[in-house]
Amino acid sequence: MAGGADGPAAPEGSGGTLSNLLREERRFPPPADLAAHANVTAAAYDEAAADGEAFWAAQAARLEWAEPWTQVLDWSNPPFARWFTGGRLNVAANCLDRHVRAGHGDRVAFHWEGEPGDTRTLSYAELKDEVCRAANALLALGVRAGDRVALYMPMIPETVVAMLACARIGAPHTVVFGGFSADALRGRVLDCDARVVVTADGGYRKGAASALKPAVDEALEQCPDVRSVLVVRRTGQDVGWTEGRDVWWHDLVAAQSAEHEAEAFDSEHPLYIMYTSGTTARPKGILHTTGGYLTQVAWTHWAVFDVKPQTDVYWTAADIGWVTGHSYIVYGPLANGVTSVLYEGTPDTPHQGRWWEIVEKYKVSILYCAPTAIRTFMKWGERIPGRFDLSSLRLLGSVGEPINPEAWIWYRRAIGADRCPVVDTWWQTETGAQMISPLPGVSTAKPGSALRALPGVSAEVVDDSGKPVPNGSGGYLVLTEPWPSMLRTIWGDEQRYVDTYWSRFPGWYFAGDGAKKDEDGDIWLLGRVDDVMNVSGHRISTTEVESALVSHPLVAEAAVVGAADETTGQGIVAFVILRADGEQAAAEAGGEDVARQLRAHVTREIGPIARPRQIMVVAELPKTRSGKIMRRLLRDIAENRALGDVTTLTDSSVMDAIRDRLPAGP
Ligand code: WTA
Repeated sequence: MAGGADGPAAPEGSGGTLSNLLREERRFPPPADLAAHANVTAAAYDEAAADGEAFWAAQAARLEWAEPWTQVLDWSNPPFARWFTGGRLNVAANCLDRHVRAGHGDRVAFHWEGEPGDTRTLSYAELKDEVCRAANALLALGVRAGDRVALYMPMIPETVVAMLACARIGAPHTVVFGGFSADALRGRVLDCDARVVVTADGGYRKGAASALKPAVDEALEQCPDVRSVLVVRRTGQDVGWTEGRDVWWHDLVAAQSAEHEAEAFDSEHPLYIMYTSGTTARPKGILHTTGGYLTQVAWTHWAVFDVKPQTDVYWTAADIGWVTGHSYIVYGPLANGVTSVLYEGTPDTPHQGRWWEIVEKYKVSILYCAPTAIRTFMKWGERIPGRFDLSSLRLLGSVGEPINPEAWIWYRRAIGADRCPVVDTWWQTETGAQMISPLPGVSTAKPGSALRALPGVSAEVVDDSGKPVPNGSGGYLVLTEPWPSMLRTIWGDEQRYVDTYWSRFPGWYFAGDGAKKDEDGDIWLLGRVDDVMNVSGHRISTTEVESALVSHPLVAEAAVVGAADETTGQGIVAFVILRADGEQAAAEAGGEDVARQLRAHVTREIGPIARPRQIMVVAELPKTRSGKIMRRLLRDIAENRALGDVTTLTDSSVMDAIRDRLPAGP
């Protein structure tokens, strides 16, 4: 939403709409022992400020290059960047071979935990062998460098193996989240013209085997150019079989040699395409390349999580089907030679303590997840993690959406025993790697703030005309310098790349997020600008109203949308999930009374301007594969429109469930 009566600045007279976010005034300096042994100190900011390219060159030198680069950054044709030009490297060799060669072959790469409780441990040496076999298998299927391979997989080790096998032979992968529909899969396969698909019969979710192969079969009915489907047997369920096209993984891959000489590819060789669920109907194929991407994911993983490869057990509790999984389950941790946990299933199967059982079992020391998960755990209650030994944890990370101070504090206290730093990391599919985040050994954390751009990254908050806003004001988040892991283009659509990201503020990358700078100049992310509401000419962040709602003791989770309103432009409509005692209160006093209480609460917290026009109590909220609430669909409900595209929902039945609980219309 560009422009508007009052521009992107905070509503007047409110002391900034930050008031609610800033109510939590506690500050958390780094623990002394962590700071004393931190991988990165404050000096990194100075080094990067003095010479950004030299800074990134030093980080790139952490990787193994078959040929050195001749130029750090070629920005002669903006916004098309080329990093480490002339350099050549192999991503899989950087993630595996060099660690094995350095004598770390026996180190565990993944502790994999299947949802039914089956497990598998893969050392770096074993993973390397498996990747080489899979690389040979892909070659046997005729895949060559540059060919695209689509993956539609559950969270099993073969997913990582297949990605690295693609990287090893220079075939860009596109991982399509296993919760996507056949339609969505087809669209992506066609858009990037993949000729080979890797999938599984199914995977385990919510205590049952859920099928994947039927969706592939359906999708491929209209993808005549796909010639091979490589199928992992995971669940053992019956699958349809197309002779001549379908091949079992255990037949083809197991028969291959574990020897494969990794070829070095150009630094700008495509590594993968990740489709993002956008606000428009057609998903965008975000293209990431080799040298710059690996440099920044490796460095940020090392710096932001302060990983010690010898001792840490690291867990990104996200799906590999979105960018967090790519950068911080696969490429970052493996480039750093770290031991990770990989979990197949849902957090409440077979019980609501499953994550914490896993933390206890593998002595996880670093956990990275999304605020939506944290709020779910809050809803389930602190007693559940309280039953497990979480003393191995030393650092907690958050990603994917603004984290409200209540959730931040709960995460630190209930999971982190009030001793683990919380790093709130802002980034996007497009940025490839973390961009704005505390450094755990340096930063004094403020609950709810991602603080400032990481060393080597330049972020600003600007107003409608592109002018940086003063401290204490809000606007649009932009990135003012190219960075190594930036998207290179939108696959097959350079113009859309230029238009979407580089045209709103020429020369700068427009992130699509609203942000504010507080009095110290620290950055608070306020959600997508398309989620910023405009009520009577005042801009109000959906995040802020949500934050107010979840600070009420009856509320577990809230999603707020701006619905068209004849009088005020937009009206605020809130969808809330109540905590167990809230449900009871609603049953006793009636839903209307709960709604009245919540409206009054928001009025108190932010002001009458933020008072929701309508509050709907629902059982579930529609979420994307990456756990983000799909406000677009909620807006459709609030405005009583036909629903938009739901293929990006993890569970499209949620929408029906919501509608069933609602009155006919607002
Ligand atoms: C949001 C996920 C606030 C933001 C890595 C961004 C965040 C979008 C944060 C990208 C955060 C991500 N605080 N908002 N720490 N991290 N976001 O592409 O709106 O799935 O633009 O990448 O998530 O989502 P994506």
